[in-house]
Amino acid sequence: MAKSRPVFICQNCGAVASRWQGRCESCGDWNTIVEESDPGPTAIRTTRGRPFELEGLAGSDKPAARIVTGIDEFDRVTGGGFVAGSVLLLGGEPGIGKSTLLIQACAALARRGARVIYISGEEAVAQVRLRAARLSLADAPVELASATQVEDILATCANGERAALIVIDSIQTMHTEIAPAAPGTVTQVRASAQALLRYAKTSGSTIILVGHVTKDGQVAGPRVVEHMVDAVLSFEGDAAHHFRMLRASKNRFGATGEIGVFEMTGLGLAEVANPSAIFLAGRDASAPGAAVFAGMEGQRPMLIEIQALVAPTSLGTPRRAVVGFDQNRLSMILAVLEAHGGLKLGMHDVYLNVAGGMRADEPAGDLAAAAALVSSLTGAVLPADQAFFGEIGLSGAVRPVIHAGMRLREAQKLGFHQAVLAQGQQIGADERRAGLALRPCADVAQLVATIAQSAPRAKGGG
Ligand code: TYD
Ligand code: MG
Repeated sequence: MAKSRPVFICQNCGAVASRWQGRCESCGDWNTIVEESDPGPTAIRTTRGRPFELEGLAGSDKPAARIVTGIDEFDRVTGGGFVAGSVLLLGGEPGIGKSTLLIQACAALARRGARVIYISGEEAVAQVRLRAARLSLADAPVELASATQVEDILATCANGERAALIVIDSIQTMHTEIAPAAPGTVTQVRASAQALLRYAKTSGSTIILVGHVTKDGQVAGPRVVEHMVDAVLSFEGDAAHHFRMLRASKNRFGATGEIGVFEMTGLGLAEVANPSAIFLAGRDASAPGAAVFAGMEGQRPMLIEIQALVAPTSLGTPRRAVVGFDQNRLSMILAVLEAHGGLKLGMHDVYLNVAGGMRADEPAGDLAAAAALVSSLTGAVLPADQAFFGEIGLSGAVRPVIHAGMRLREAQKLGFHQAVLAQGQQIGADERRAGLALRPCADVAQLVATIAQSAPRAKGGG
């Protein structure tokens, strides 16, 4: 038998190098190249192939059957439930609540009579049971095991009735006989995922793979798995807030951009059916520097508070810091406010924060951010019942954005009475009836002038 040559594989992106390098040439990450033994020429048989029949696009296939968990916030993100035979990857930082979310989903599904298998490669059965007991899910008929060997797991799953859902927590802990590499390496993760994928496609069971993502890429990243699976969900949130957001960044069976909102409580993850109300709760509408943005997350309108603090700097170079907002967009908004709004911000520190640990990534958030900035600089408090949406162009003009109707209706539902929007924004008759007073804004100069009007004397900045 030929001696296997060492190969060097990037643990972040899976690229293969012929020698060890400090930096991966493919993804640019440092210290991610690890030596693994060569699996040898992959077993691609070059025997003569048999032709198969090709088909047209139109067919009589029924739409894929969906398995609904009953956890609405989860089902929304998957596109209305799991598709039988699909494989999903649930990524997230350690401790964010992936195992908690999945045990809750498993229990919900099992209580509806489906066969559900939960395999933990990280925790002992007792630990999983303890969590289930804490979440009052101990009575749900979920079949549980602690295992890491893929072949054994698949043999177990194939035993008995076909499972509707199999959860593998996590893919990094799995290993398979077919790959010679050490557990935890990219080669193992990829081979294990492939074996599980094959099982899902042939058996019709839905499989959810949990994948840890670490910022430094030390653990074999689930990146290599992302290409293989049908859907990639990520569970986000930060340690300081209880809110958790579930998003789909890839979904072969549904739209991406949908989000599910949960709150981590002492009794597990609770669904947040009306996120706007929660994000706006505790808002101090009587202080300057806060504006409410009527935003969209996928097809779902969501009101979020954008807070700004503009204060004279004590440093040579003023600070610009953002949380939950794009740094480049802030720089652009500041430049436009200076060039076309007549503000002088060169000697001011600027901080922008999106409340509740949310992110405002849409360009439609520009107008709210600008309003918060102007409000903080001038000391003018914005009306508490006013919501903003609109994109700001480099010329200073406020531009229309999509989904105006949904944004307005959400604002109205939450008790807002005024909306500041682009002058050119088309509003249907239906939305007009929503009853909000529309305050069209042509450009940043008009925005600054309007806000500055209500500023207390002597503190005008512009
Ligand atoms: P876990 O689901 O184990 O995270 P992951 O699988 O993503 O690593 O959840 C970890 C955190 O969640 C843990 O720090 C404690 C917290 N938690 C609660 O606050 N309430 C609960 O009911 C549970 C089960 C966990
Ligand atoms: Mg876990």
